[in-house]
Amino acid sequence: MNLKGARCLITGCSSGIGRATALALAGAGGRVWASARRRQSITDLESQGIQTVDLDVTDAAAIHRAVSLVGEVDVLTNNAGYGLEGAVEEVADEELFEQYNTNLFGPWRLCRAVLPGMRERGHGAIVNISSFGGEVPYPGIGAYRTSKFALEGFSWTLHLEVAHFGIRVLDVQPGLTESDFGAHMKRASGMKPGNAYAGMHETSARVYPRMSPKALPPEAVAEAIVAELRKDSGPLRLRVGEDAHRMVAAIRAGDDEYERYLVSQLGFDWHPWKNRSGF
Ligand SMILES: NC(=O)c1ccc[n+]([C@@H]2O[C@H](COP(=O)([O-])OP(=O)(O)OC[C@H]3O[C@@H](n4cnc5c(N)ncnc54)[C@H](OP(=O)(O)O)[C@@H]3O)[C@@H](O)[C@H]2O)c1
Repeated sequence: MNLKGARCLITGCSSGIGRATALALAGAGGRVWASARRRQSITDLESQGIQTVDLDVTDAAAIHRAVSLVGEVDVLTNNAGYGLEGAVEEVADEELFEQYNTNLFGPWRLCRAVLPGMRERGHGAIVNISSFGGEVPYPGIGAYRTSKFALEGFSWTLHLEVAHFGIRVLDVQPGLTESDFGAHMKRASGMKPGNAYAGMHETSARVYPRMSPKALPPEAVAEAIVAELRKDSGPLRLRVGEDAHRMVAAIRAGDDEYERYLVSQLGFDWHPWKNRSGF
């Protein structure tokens, strides 16, 4: 699509991938509205010709206001998201709801707000920032990863529903990326020192860096998105980063092969796993 003059709305621009994407879309000639929960965290972007908007993706009224302000949204980038650490058993209902409210219901609400206009005009693009973790489970961060699994299903469904209206859905699966993601990560209230999962969390934390030894700069993800949007058409999924490609290949080899990869390649040696036959 032609990005020159395209009206672009992006969520979660205070740091990381959202901020880099706002700058990259503006650099490609787009008219950009960057949004954040705390607008003061992004007002410096105004010196780059970017407009700024208050937007918490869990707030339906704020979404309505932001979309009305932009008017005809040509490119929506659903980027806002955070991670929640905790084993399945350790995550409380409210924590799970909050995770899904931001990472899944937020994009869903925003899509509902912009789709009628895109359909009427017969064009538009929706970019959902998922993760390779949307295809690859990992112990101890199930709430986050399953919210991305759900976002994957959402993007795929949306693509099937709206492609024939001229609307492109782009499901972006970045690998590990330098950002404030780690600093923003929450811990489930059920995580307690010495409980049944404490050893698993220790192992997870030790093994995690082996999965993604090198983080991408957020600009690399942003540039990949812009390059993809510039094409007239392309695939639903955009995977960015060596780790993203390798980990998706590992899971696609099969369920058992993926577990074997975790144990024998990455050294996920939490003791209950060692006792499993075949590992
Ligand atoms: N970094 C990685 O390794 C990585 C890898 C794969 C996918 N991703 C995905 O990339 C996206 C961006 O993350 P990042 O890595 O750039 O992390 P980040 O630096 O923490 O940025 C996340 C952004 O989301 C915003 N946000 C959180 N909750 C929000 C809400 N309710 N409403 C509006 N904004 C909200 C944060 O704003 P505040 O400043 O208000 O908190 C922040 O601007 C996320 O969806 C993440 O899951 C990241």
